[in-house]
Amino acid sequence: MDVLNLGMVGGGTVGSGVFHALQQNGEVLARRIGVRIQVRKVAVKAVDEPRPYPIPHRFLTTDWRAVVEDPEVHLVTELVGGTTVARTIVLTALRLGKPVITANKALLSAHGPELFREAERHGTNLYYEASVCGGIPIIKALREGFVGNRIRALYGIVNGTCNYILTRMARDRADFPTVLAEAQRQGYAETPPDLDIDGHDAQHKTGILASLAHGTWIPASRINVEGIRSVTPLDLEFAAQLGYTIKLLGIVKQLNAPESDEDPTEVQVSVYPALIPSAHVLAGVQGVFNAVFVRGDVVGDTLFYGQGAGKDATASAVLSDLADAALDVRLGTRRRRPAFVEVPGRIRVVPM
Ligand code: HSE
Repeated sequence: MDVLNLGMVGGGTVGSGVFHALQQNGEVLARRIGVRIQVRKVAVKAVDEPRPYPIPHRFLTTDWRAVVEDPEVHLVTELVGGTTVARTIVLTALRLGKPVITANKALLSAHGPELFREAERHGTNLYYEASVCGGIPIIKALREGFVGNRIRALYGIVNGTCNYILTRMARDRADFPTVLAEAQRQGYAETPPDLDIDGHDAQHKTGILASLAHGTWIPASRINVEGIRSVTPLDLEFAAQLGYTIKLLGIVKQLNAPESDEDPTEVQVSVYPALIPSAHVLAGVQGVFNAVFVRGDVVGDTLFYGQGAGKDATASAVLSDLADAALDVRLGTRRRRPAFVEVPGRIRVVPM
């Protein structure tokens, strides 16, 4: 069978999850896509650092350039996080014409247009299913499944850490620092966790979803954001008495219905702790689970639900991107679906 070599940069929670998932399901994937993806090397910060799944020493190196620039490496995963070294890693691989798979929403939020342009210029692609909502295939849904819809509204519980904290505070009256420490122990929280708590992780993800929903890049700076730091157990208790629950929501709302493509579509994008009626399906999303409610003008209302964080759920999304990237390499760019679909028409982001 045809074989492609994968160079991995990052072997921590998500990286070791991907390594493990490929060991477990690599054969199944190979039979399905007709290409076997085999890990060639994994670049890590320190060879002996603890990781959730073991990676044999013979795969490990601390030299990411040697991995990315290895002529025998055909596909690259960037799973290191952050926006500086990660940007260099992704640009280096794309400039060599190698498809890159990333889970890095902060990177996309800061440098998305530059990275997509660079991928296009070098005849390759940048894949990012794992950047939003872990195992839920929401990127594919918006980019491909709903390509024939105008997205009227999208409401997302996109940060597992915040949802876990709010769930535990509401259910067990647990205090904020204890619950945060639990989320960190389980490997859900960002480093530093302020990115979660202050809503910036949700802002990055909501920006990506909003951009896909409206076919134009919507920068994070246009998104109103408020985190969950000021939510108290008392707020949650009062909300429950009134028949509501509080969830950190990413909200993308179309405000008008333009009659032609000449008229701007007005869109509002925001992240804040919102009151949701307890009977609403999103109110039942507990713990680290994520959910995205999408209303399309043709499809109507849809709901996506699943594990939004963690090594295995995120690895599942990376495998899906690896399959697409492998087919890009083997079948060439003619069948290639762009990683970001630009839609003609004018979008105006309206502040709250
Ligand atoms: N810190 C993120 C979350 C991880 O809690 O949702 C997954 O992106």
